[in-house]
Amino acid sequence: MILPIYAYGQPVLKRKAAPVDLSAPGIEDFISHMWETMYHAAGVGLAAPQVGKSMRIFLVDTEQTMKEDDKKHGIKKAFINAEIIEEWGELWSYEEGCLSIPHIRGDVERWSHIAIRYTDLDGNEYEEDYEGINARVIQHEYDHIEGKLFTEYLKPLKRQLVKRKLDQIKKGKVEADYRLRYV
Ligand code: NI
Repeated sequence: MILPIYAYGQPVLKRKAAPVDLSAPGIEDFISHMWETMYHAAGVGLAAPQVGKSMRIFLVDTEQTMKEDDKKHGIKKAFINAEIIEEWGELWSYEEGCLSIPHIRGDVERWSHIAIRYTDLDGNEYEEDYEGINARVIQHEYDHIEGKLFTEYLKPLKRQLVKRKLDQIKKGKVEADYRLRYV
């Protein structure tokens, strides 16, 4: 089932998401709906708050961004109850976008390396290190479950430039190739 994506301005996007109770019914279905929604919108990541649920779940598929012979460097997984334990390395800038904020892109500086702890659907716990584009997409999605959006990192001048566009999105005056929810 393809779910509507909550657009910039929706309060759920600004809330710190709650831990997931894996024994609650429907979690597995919900995650499969999230995958479907993400691919339908051509995203490389999607977090539960973006489909209106304040839960600590996000998906990442960076395999899509890699060339055929490089796919093994990509990741494709659901992160449940994730906590970023550490960030290190160097700060690097890259132009990001977000399914909740259509048609706006901007440079965001993030650490090159992260360590993250999370569980899978069966409750198995993992602790892993990531770098480069994998780390970046994880950091972006992780921010969603912490109630933070990439536009908050933009430099003041750029933020000024996108302010009007953001206000338009808030009012529902935006088009996307997927269904957005404004109210
Ligand atoms: Ni996003």
